[in-house]
Amino acid sequence: MIVLVGITLFNLEQAHASDILIADFENTNYDNWTISGNAFGDAPPAGTLQNQMKVSGFRGKKLVNTFKHGDQTTGTAISKPFEIKRKFIAFLIGGGADLKEVGIELLVDNQPVRAATGSESEHLLWASWNVESLIGRQARLRIYDHGVGGWGHINVDHIIQTNNAPRRFDRKNQLEAYRKSEQYLDEPWRPQVHFSPEINWMNDPNGLVYYEGEYHLFYQYNPAGNQWGHMSWGHAVSRDLVHWENLPLAIPEENGEMAFSGCCIVDHQNTSGLGSERSPPMIAVYTAHGHGKQVQNLAFSNDRGRTWAKFKDNPILDINEKNFRDPKVFWHQSTQRWVMVVSLALEKVLVFYGSEDLKKWKELSRFGPAGASDKSNWECPDLFELEVEGSTDEKHWVLEVDMGAGSIAGGSGGEYFVGKFNGQEFIATQDARWVDFGRDFYAPISWSNIPRSDGRRIWLGWFNNWETCLIPTSPWRSSMSFPRTLALRKIHNEKDRPAFRLIQRPVDEIRKLIVDEIPIDTSVASWPPTRVTQPDQLNGMHFILETTLVPGTAQSCGLRIQTGPDEFLEVGYDNKNQHIYVDRTESGEVNFHPSFAGRHKAPTQVINGEIKLTMIIDRSSIELFINDGESVISDRFFPRSANPVVKIFASNNTASLKDTRIQQLNSIWQPQEKN
Ligand code: FRU
Repeated sequence: MIVLVGITLFNLEQAHASDILIADFENTNYDNWTISGNAFGDAPPAGTLQNQMKVSGFRGKKLVNTFKHGDQTTGTAISKPFEIKRKFIAFLIGGGADLKEVGIELLVDNQPVRAATGSESEHLLWASWNVESLIGRQARLRIYDHGVGGWGHINVDHIIQTNNAPRRFDRKNQLEAYRKSEQYLDEPWRPQVHFSPEINWMNDPNGLVYYEGEYHLFYQYNPAGNQWGHMSWGHAVSRDLVHWENLPLAIPEENGEMAFSGCCIVDHQNTSGLGSERSPPMIAVYTAHGHGKQVQNLAFSNDRGRTWAKFKDNPILDINEKNFRDPKVFWHQSTQRWVMVVSLALEKVLVFYGSEDLKKWKELSRFGPAGASDKSNWECPDLFELEVEGSTDEKHWVLEVDMGAGSIAGGSGGEYFVGKFNGQEFIATQDARWVDFGRDFYAPISWSNIPRSDGRRIWLGWFNNWETCLIPTSPWRSSMSFPRTLALRKIHNEKDRPAFRLIQRPVDEIRKLIVDEIPIDTSVASWPPTRVTQPDQLNGMHFILETTLVPGTAQSCGLRIQTGPDEFLEVGYDNKNQHIYVDRTESGEVNFHPSFAGRHKAPTQVINGEIKLTMIIDRSSIELFINDGESVISDRFFPRSANPVVKIFASNNTASLKDTRIQQLNSIWQPQEKN
């Protein structure tokens, strides 16, 4: 016993022994390193070199970067001998990926005993060698660049000896710095009522699940940068679908496999054996992308989603396909089994599988191509049953699928089919319809495990478009839409047969954020547009605007969110073509992509002479719900001011905007006691 305590204390001491810096390359020369060749120059460069993509992820101001005079230069840098005193040697590394050409080596007795290289990225990431067996030995480091073609250079920084190998991604360091910054979650284009990650790139929502009072939101996340890459599952939770708490990365990219999109379920009967019935496991079913194919994997959590382990017998579904992704799983009550819908993306085919235990899956049927199937790949399906508004027992199944390009407003978007599902196969009973008529609503999935007492079907989508996804924000990119409640509405089509529309409305919880109501008089709209709010009244720019358009015979009518003398976002009704539109052509920063500026239209019915509009405006986005959610237009825009006024207009005749009201919203990022 005494011996055991001794060992434990010793280990603890070892773990906490401080790191030893070998080199940080912050000096005006290479200190004691012996340099040969011309790739290193006389001194460590200050970041990016001429004609190089932006170099990032290094510490301090300088680093080793052998792109001096381009890729064609070569050379080596050899350190002074040092004694190995810690379990790991760790460093930040970027640049080329071919060890034969570029890399860093540990030399003991003049022989290389460890080696590492970059991964064809100018963003440096942590790498480390376990050198426990070499403690006490003398060693040197050798950074080499023999590469003369593409990616024939290497970037290295901050080499340390440590007993705690750093994680590959240096997110902690970046996050700490960002959290202290003045603009923390308050940059001019930072959404104030929509979820966005603190730093770095985000795309699709993943694994939406409710568990013990918390709504979980996982999402496609790059822990290493502000562009797509290293896809892992980021994580946040909310108790009210409005305020979000950021949690650590849930499922990381690992061993050459990225964690692509998928879902989460709660295995109440412990069919998987990965938890217990008393404490059912949360299980993520996601696509592992790597080693030349896409397969389906499980990860699970037994502590309310706080920590995750990958299932040891992954993959649970491998059909040797390169484009087989984005599983959505749910419990099918009447057949008493799990059902998965997953996409053969390039074939535009959804495959349905059944399983008793979430581990062994049997194909049940296939659906597609269908709808706008000549368009690009199919991704991120969802399938669920929905009630028809106003009825207590009429329900239909809705199958939603997204396509990477070619959608109604251009670029990526989603469509849905209403039909029947018997646990085996899906049969569409009406034509496909677009989910959203804006440019920026993609890959929505719905929450699973919402309590029966609540009964809502709620989803949210990625508030972006693959075509124009490199929006001008940093240090984060993208946000989610506001969570929406779904329903079906029965309408009668041209043949006077009943047809169903997917109805989407912001969840009622948004009301919690309302702080103030601004009465405005919009009874007569004419040309030129007239201002109906006071300057500074909407400063901060996060509000709900509701109005009922009465277009009469005006050619067009509507309103503008005016953010500069010639800068506005226009929401209007085009009487001749009978559509509501959002026009972001003059809305501010539009030149970052040639197809960003434009007008996005939703065919709209005038009901008793009126069109009802509800919009959420949030610094750099609009979600416009038309006629109580019968169509939606979701668009991002990047105004040069967050202090707008509202103007109303009608052309060629007057029109009126009835029952207009603006409700100011609190920011979700303010401490809640202030709300
Ligand atoms: C859709 C998508 C998915 C994939 C993920 C990768 O936006 O392409 O099909 O799982 O993004 O980040």
